[in-house]
Amino acid sequence: MFKRREASIHDGDDTRPDMAQVLSTGLEFLEHNNPNGNPCVKGYNIINGELRQASDGATFKSTNPAWLDDCLGEFPLSNEADVHEALAAARDAFPDWAATPAPTRGQIIGNMGRLLMEHKDAIVAIETREIGKTLKESAGSVQEAIDTCLFFQSEGRRLYGQTVNSELPDKELFTYRRPLGVCGIINACNFPAAVPFWKMIPAIMCGNTCVWKSPQDAPLLSFALARIMHESGLPNGVINLVHGKGRGAGQYLVDAVDKGMVNKISFTGSTAVGKMIGEVCGRNLVSASLELGGKNPLVIMPSANMENAVEGAYWAGFGTAGQRCTSLGNLIIHQDIYDEFMSKLMAKVEGTVIGDSLRNEGVLYGPMLSEKYAVDFLKDLGMCETSGATKLYGKGRITNDNKPAGFLGDAAEGVYMWPHVYADVTEDMECFHEEIFGPAITVVKAKDFVHALHLANASPYGLSSAIYTNDRLEAYRFKTGIKAGMPGINNSTTGAEAHLPFGGVKGSGNGTRESGIWVIEAYSYWHAVNDELSGKLQLAQMDVDEIEIEEAEVDWTALSNG
Ligand code: UN1
Repeated sequence: MFKRREASIHDGDDTRPDMAQVLSTGLEFLEHNNPNGNPCVKGYNIINGELRQASDGATFKSTNPAWLDDCLGEFPLSNEADVHEALAAARDAFPDWAATPAPTRGQIIGNMGRLLMEHKDAIVAIETREIGKTLKESAGSVQEAIDTCLFFQSEGRRLYGQTVNSELPDKELFTYRRPLGVCGIINACNFPAAVPFWKMIPAIMCGNTCVWKSPQDAPLLSFALARIMHESGLPNGVINLVHGKGRGAGQYLVDAVDKGMVNKISFTGSTAVGKMIGEVCGRNLVSASLELGGKNPLVIMPSANMENAVEGAYWAGFGTAGQRCTSLGNLIIHQDIYDEFMSKLMAKVEGTVIGDSLRNEGVLYGPMLSEKYAVDFLKDLGMCETSGATKLYGKGRITNDNKPAGFLGDAAEGVYMWPHVYADVTEDMECFHEEIFGPAITVVKAKDFVHALHLANASPYGLSSAIYTNDRLEAYRFKTGIKAGMPGINNSTTGAEAHLPFGGVKGSGNGTRESGIWVIEAYSYWHAVNDELSGKLQLAQMDVDEIEIEEAEVDWTALSNG
């Protein structure tokens, strides 16, 4: 199925593959003392199909959050010159790529999907090693990237425009989708395979080129994915990868919008950073796709199937260690079933199995994505305390002296957190409104359905949301009354599928969507073309035939007998 190239393996010092073509170079390994014996890789930026170091040689390391002594590799800490070089490569590659037939672009995307399928197990293991997600969940994230490729491979054969009738004779009208140009792609590390693919696959399908700033906590996975993308037949410069910090390379990419070097920014991350990017893009009239925070509500009504609802709430709150943008925020429970629901939920929370999924079976969640996420999460727990919420469960960071019964392994090795449940939360508390990115839920009691819906709408966010009920009218009223991009009925708040529009309203985004056919709007503009065949100047609106109404003398009322 594939043409194979021999890639050499370097072991560090004897060769300098800097500037080498990505396809003619294998992996380069560094000396390491990793306790698990896993390799440590030298990673590169990929600019115009070439492996590059940062121009000043600066680097940073990627470490395994489940085992901090395990270093995955060293990566370029890119500076502004590196980002500009990547943007220039994307600019140079744009005309030829935009002129490549869309079905051919789709074929390359299909190849990417097939390559990901071939390497899926390895990519999944890298994702788990780099960000600590369970193997099952990493497989889901990689599958979402594959699904995206398979979906858009045939969109290359559709990318439809319209033929439109003119109001004038001998004149034709058409619409075409055209690419925007150079897209800056910035994603968070929690879905390091799915989310960049959500962005870059439709971007390149539409004929754009990209500069991808990898998440600081997932550079190895991003490096692996970008290399695999190049094996698909992708021309050099269509996707350029730069590693570094959000405040470094990420900020330089956004600053380049002011310099006229970028035609689109697509960002997944915090609402505060999203607003800053929206301002920069807004003042330059540059398109921005912004997928931001969430405080996703889940409503439990008395008619719900209790076991199913407990299962859904537990998974939504604590799966992925609560580190999805769709994770449960406010759990809103009808007062009539509050006690029963909470006792069932707490039994599950107290039995949570936590640990490194590469070394333990049956783990619900692993470590925080990195130390930085742990620090922010602990601050958020402090905010719950100062809000006055009642802590039902959870004791912050897991250590060997402070660990829940279900913790597996040596807590000193990684960055693990207890699951946390805060109850008696009310609308006037800060913790009702603020997103908490980690394993913690805030529980709110509702008087009735109207109150529950009010509470579900009362946070500043509007990403995901869900209700458990077997009352069809309640489900209908929730579906129509909730201000959120993605409402679920009798389901958890997470788990959006790769071919539905993904995104939010209010503080969760600017209305753009990822995924499915809807995302195409975000990466193309409409070209309305008119072709005047008459050989003369015909003025629209003015030279149009005007057809007059001609009334006849008929008494239509005479036909009725009133
Ligand atoms: C994210 O957390 O940014 O719906 C993406 C979900 C996943 C995607 C989450 N399919 O939970």
